[in-house]
Order: sequence, then C-alpha cells, then structure tokens
Amino acid sequence: MANNQTLIPVAEPVIGDKELAYVTECLKTGWISSLGKYVTTFENRFADYCNTQYGVATFNGTVALHLLAAALNLGPGDEIIMPSLTFVATANAIQYTGATPVFVDSEYGSWNIDPAVVEAAITPRTKAIIAVHLYGHPADMDPLREIAQAHNLLLLEDAAEAHGACYKGQRVGGLSDAAIFSFYGNKIMTTGEGGIIITNDQALSERAFFLENQGRYSDNPYWHPEVAFNYRMTNIQAAVGVAQLERIADLITIRQRNAAYYNQRLAEIDGLTLPPNQDWAENVYWMYSVLLDDTLPLNRDELRQKLRAANIDTRPFFYPVHQLPMYDTKQSLPVAEDLSRRGINLPSGATLTIAQVDYVCDELIKILT
Ligand SMILES: Cc1ncc(COP(=O)(O)O)c(C=O)c1O
Repeated sequence: MANNQTLIPVAEPVIGDKELAYVTECLKTGWISSLGKYVTTFENRFADYCNTQYGVATFNGTVALHLLAAALNLGPGDEIIMPSLTFVATANAIQYTGATPVFVDSEYGSWNIDPAVVEAAITPRTKAIIAVHLYGHPADMDPLREIAQAHNLLLLEDAAEAHGACYKGQRVGGLSDAAIFSFYGNKIMTTGEGGIIITNDQALSERAFFLENQGRYSDNPYWHPEVAFNYRMTNIQAAVGVAQLERIADLITIRQRNAAYYNQRLAEIDGLTLPPNQDWAENVYWMYSVLLDDTLPLNRDELRQKLRAANIDTRPFFYPVHQLPMYDTKQSLPVAEDLSRRGINLPSGATLTIAQVDYVCDELIKILT
C-alpha cells in the first residue's frame, strides 16, 4: 500500500545488518580513524568494481575532486572545461586550486556536457575536460576522449552521481585519466559522507595519497616537504562502504526497476519528457527526473508544491553554475538553462516500493492531465 501519510523521500540510504556488523567491529576494536583494514579494502574493491587499478578514499566527494585537481597540479592560469549543469562542487573544487572553470552547454540527449561545443572552448590554457554523469546517465565519452587526445588534454570524470552506470558496456569511472565518486547518504551507495579518486595511473594515485596524508612519506612521518591536506576517509566510513559495495547490484536493480515502472506509467502524460536512456548507456537513475514542457498547465515549482502537499518530496534541477553569483559569467548556455528550469527529480531511492511509485504516478497524472 502506498503510504500517503508520511513523506515519500527523494533518496534515502539502505542500511542493514552488514553495515552494522562492520561498523561495530571498528568501534569494538578501536580502529575508528583512517587507519584500519576497511579503508584499503574499500579502495581496492571500489577501484576494481570500476575496472581500475588504484583507489584513494577521501572524506567526501568534494575533497576528492579538490585532491585530484591538486594531485594533477592544476592551478592559476589553467582552464578546466566542464558542463555548467552540474552540482556546484565540480566548479568549486577547481576554483580552490586557483584554476578557472570554463562552462559549456549540455545536450538534450543525455543532459550531459555537449561534446560538440567543447572544442570551441579550448584555449592554449586549457588543461582538462571534466565530464559529469548527471543524475546517473553517462556522458558521451568517446567524442570527449577524441577531443582530449587531439589537444593533449586530461579527461576526467565526476562520477559522483553514477556508481555502476555503463557507457558502451564499461563502468563509468574507468573511462578517463581519473574519476571521483561521492558516497553521500543519498547516493547510489553511501559511506555517510565519503568520496574516492580512482585511476589507472599509479604515480597519480601515490601523489593523491601523499597529499591527503598531510604530505608525508611513511618512513619519515613528521617530515612534510609541502603544504598538504588531511582528506582521509575513516575506517568507519569505509566499513559502511565495504558493506554497501556487497549489495550495490541490488541497489542499482531497484532504482532501474522503479525507473522502468515510472517510464511505463508516466508515458501517458503529454508534455513530460522522461529521462534519457541512450542505447550506448546504462542509466542507474540516481535521480529519476523528468522535464515539464511549457505547454503544461503549471510549471515545475508549482508542481513541486502540489506534490509536497501530497507528501511527495522532490528536488529542482541544479542551477547552471555559470549563473551562480561567484561565477556569473554572463554566458548564454541555452540547453543547460532550459533543463535547469524545467527539470524535477522525483522520489528515486532504493527504499522506494512499487506501491510508492504508483502513488507518485497517480498524483502526477491527477495534477498534470
Ligand atoms: C556531480 C557532483 N560532484 C561532486 C559532488 C560532491 O560530493 P560530496 O557531496 O560528497 O562532497 C556531488 C555531490 O552531491 C555531485 O553531485
């Protein structure tokens, strides 16, 4: 039975006995900081899950991005191309280093960075392109790789929202020079707060590990040759992560099952654009999202209010970062702006039952038809 008395959340974590057992072990043994077996186990298993060789776990996804940028030596004078339609952390992490985020438009087909506009944004200062796999659908990586190779640029992935998503049969995170993920509580899998860098580049992973450990070498722990950070993941976070990784297939299957059901039921509403699912992609639907056509009787924000009154929680799409006050580039990026204005994230988490999806669809049909 759909419960229309309690709020249906957008995305809640699934925490069970394994998470409890592994965390309890940390607490009982005293391995509660960043030393302990779970951190390395998690780094290795997550890297392996993405078919990469090295993982460097961090205490959240934002610092994973900053650490990656620092380990790649990005800094003042460097330009980094990224989609404007992303969570603000992608741009902020670049800004922390003194490098400049350069915003480009998205494409309707995947809601991700439009490879067709990237080349025009390249200058002699460009160092890297960051693809973001928005809301769980991969960006179109092959053309981006071709551009990166042709111009000798790094290609990076912000895969914070797309654990397990595939591009042409390959898991995201392993499609570029290096990638980051977030394990915040609403993500496909969680460690509470948490993040990771994954890569096949051993030197890069060692450099990231050095920088997240206050810039020290294990054989001389209080000799710090550089200003560095403490960005380490704790053993407790990693214990949750190891347990979550053991159930990630189920977490993804539930989201995909719910998405298929949403697609089936919402197809009858004229004026709704359903989420992208390119034939080269496997979408993991971190956020099951739709776009509202302007022909509908009410706009996105009015719809959100009505859903809220029916105890259904939703989120608006991110603002395009180029419009936020600290960036405010005065660019016109029409696709990103349009998607942002019309997009809504519906309840999507792996705790969501088919009965709840049914209830959300009933309400949407009632309001919009
Ligand atoms: C695209 C993207 N990048 C980076 C982050 C930052 O991750 P965190 O919240 O773990 O710092 C997020 C988090 O939601 C995100 O969606």
